[in-house]
Amino acid sequence: MEGGKGRVCVTGGTGFIASVIIKRLLHEGYSVNTTIRSSPANSKKDVSFLTNLPGAPQRLQIFNADLNNPESFNAAIEGCIGVFHTATPSPTIDDDNYSSQLNQTQESIIKTSVDGVLGILKSCLNSKTVKRVVYTSSGSAVIHHSNRSREHEIMDESYWSDVDFLRDTKPWLWFNSVSKTLAEKAALEFGEQHGLEVVSLIPPLVLGPFICSKLPDSVHISLAILFGQGNMDQFGALVRFPIAHVDDLARAHIFLLQHPNPKGRYNCSPCSVTLGEIADIIRSKHPEFKIPSPESIKEITGENMPILNSKKLIDAGFEFKYGTEETFEEAIQCCKEKGYL
Ligand SMILES: NC(=O)c1ccc[n+]([C@@H]2O[C@H](COP(=O)([O-])OP(=O)(O)OC[C@H]3O[C@@H](n4cnc5c(N)ncnc54)[C@H](OP(=O)(O)O)[C@@H]3O)[C@@H](O)[C@H]2O)c1
Repeated sequence: MEGGKGRVCVTGGTGFIASVIIKRLLHEGYSVNTTIRSSPANSKKDVSFLTNLPGAPQRLQIFNADLNNPESFNAAIEGCIGVFHTATPSPTIDDDNYSSQLNQTQESIIKTSVDGVLGILKSCLNSKTVKRVVYTSSGSAVIHHSNRSREHEIMDESYWSDVDFLRDTKPWLWFNSVSKTLAEKAALEFGEQHGLEVVSLIPPLVLGPFICSKLPDSVHISLAILFGQGNMDQFGALVRFPIAHVDDLARAHIFLLQHPNPKGRYNCSPCSVTLGEIADIIRSKHPEFKIPSPESIKEITGENMPILNSKKLIDAGFEFKYGTEETFEEAIQCCKEKGYL
């Protein structure tokens, strides 16, 4: 019998969100199995940001697993009481041709994601020890609709992105949105059909301080105004978008594992922010950075993403700790410390 709070598995431990969940879990006394993708012997991944975490030498075990071979997760899941499935076969935003870099077609990214989650859930069922799975979904599984209008400015968990609309119109990273929508649906349906407790957490754009070894895409995107015009052009300006601090998101994952009776999907976003508000924060705290003037920011056109209504999570007892200003400030400080800004 495992001591402390028991053993849980976090998939994709090298990731931005997973690494912060692992840090929190170790801090709270859990033993953690995490999975990383294996790399060739001559280019071993540096995972010291995980192995150096307090509690890691005693309570963190690292396994190799790949969503292209879902059975590879069996060993990491065996003996665990809970699983956080955060790994996703997403492309990197730095690449012009996302598919070729991953050597996968866009449709095969979708297939890997759905087959991967189903394989992991089968493994959870077979383990006989896993009591609950928390799947990390995405706001992109909620917000994409053909008929979005003013009345859809705020979306709760009853909204599902329209996969046909995404396939027809192919907005930026459309296949990521399709894969998150289909994988989340498949996960919740599998749970219903097999009597396994599966819940999903729906993050907005996540930022804050990071411990992983690369600049997280979502930090890069939300600070596009700081990283320069080229980034604004590349990502398409987000004029307003919902956000969450990565530590709030990590706590929300653990909250759902520990909750006596969670059900279904949970949006996880305390606030929404406009480009103008981000610029004001940067101007007041970091006059050293050159950013567009207030007048030119007003002229920027781009997407107004809906607000993710997170009342269900709050009503379940979760408390967000971070507001907009702290979230951006901590992300900027971390980027400075790590030399990205
Ligand atoms: N960050 C956000 O703003 C945000 C917003 C909404 C939803 N989410 C969701 O949150 C989760 C974590 O996101 P993140 O921002 O932390 O992403 P991330 O930093 O890119 O991490 C993704 C993880 O998935 C792993 N991975 C990729 N392909 C894999 C494969 N074929 N098999 C096994 N693992 C694979 C990556 O491993 P490598 O290191 O080997 O590449 C990495 O550890 C994802 O499910 C994402 O959709 C994130």
